[in-house]
Amino acid sequence: MTKPRIYSGMQPSSGSLHLGNYVGALMQWRELQAEGEAFFSIVDLHALTSAKDPKVLRQQVRTLAAQYIAGGIDPEASCLYVQSHVAAHSQMAWLLSTITGFGEASRMTQFKDKSAKEGVEAANVGLFTYPILMAGDILLYDTDLVPVGGDQKQHVELTRDLAERFNKRFGKTFRVPKPHILGETARIMDLQDPTRKMSKSAETDKGIIWLLDEPGKTVKKIKSAVTDTDGSIRVDAENKPGVTNLLGILSAFTGRPIDDLVAEFDGQGYGAFKGAVAEAVIDELSPIRDRTLDLLDDPAELDRILDANAERASAVADATLDRAMVAMGL
Ligand code: ADP
Ligand code: NA
Repeated sequence: MTKPRIYSGMQPSSGSLHLGNYVGALMQWRELQAEGEAFFSIVDLHALTSAKDPKVLRQQVRTLAAQYIAGGIDPEASCLYVQSHVAAHSQMAWLLSTITGFGEASRMTQFKDKSAKEGVEAANVGLFTYPILMAGDILLYDTDLVPVGGDQKQHVELTRDLAERFNKRFGKTFRVPKPHILGETARIMDLQDPTRKMSKSAETDKGIIWLLDEPGKTVKKIKSAVTDTDGSIRVDAENKPGVTNLLGILSAFTGRPIDDLVAEFDGQGYGAFKGAVAEAVIDELSPIRDRTLDLLDDPAELDRILDANAERASAVADATLDRAMVAMGL
């Protein structure tokens, strides 16, 4: 049996990944890359849908690439590339836009949510057609599996619909992908407001652990995580969201089941518990931080890796684009 093709990507939209991105995306990608032929993209074209300072964007692309590698994506085994380096993405998005219904695109909840903030009239058209660009990203690589968070499921469903529609209208051209939804257990909450997920869009970053934070800062943030006064260490997402979140983090970083951790910390205070969480997080993240900074110190080597991977990605993507163009009569 041939290995499944896997495709996923993240936007270069902040200076550092946070703990949620690490546990909810990067850690899972690292595991999946052994099970298939994986393409991991830095989706800079998608990032343009919110206004960016060009210099900042360029630096964020490099920083994200370095974090992918430092976090365990092997750029020889997997294809780790920058979306805009592969021209086929923009071209495929146009082809697919011509078979997407306006009503169908209007039903995408992420556009509704994002445009609601400033009003639909103020939103750019790129934000509206974002799911079509994403569909092309996935279809270009004959993808079988798309590891995504639940919030992206609707976009993968659209991708499947477009692939099936295209195949029916123009003949079998695309492989129809399946979403691989990453479990809720992998959801990390904000340390200061554990009822909401850790997100770069929070108003303050007091509850966010950045991968590139200095270890001392990480320890401080974990030690001052909001908990409760009940004093017991157990899972209760409703009444004890802070402790539940810390248990989830400790489990993710030690690979140990939550039940084991609950048994081990039974009767201990929050101070000792938080100390153990901080230690586990630092043990894993410090080497990743160091490696990221090393990679950023050697831009020529990073460029060499990204150029070679863009070539590998283009070889696959161009062949699919060509198939689609010929099928459509171009
Ligand atoms: P953010 O919410 O900070 O804007 P993104 O939406 O860019 O993060 O998400 C990038 C990836 O990280 C996605 O695969 C998403 O599912 C995952 N992710 C983001 N936040 C979390 C979180 N708090 N817990 C688990 N996974 C997360
Ligand atoms: Na987000």
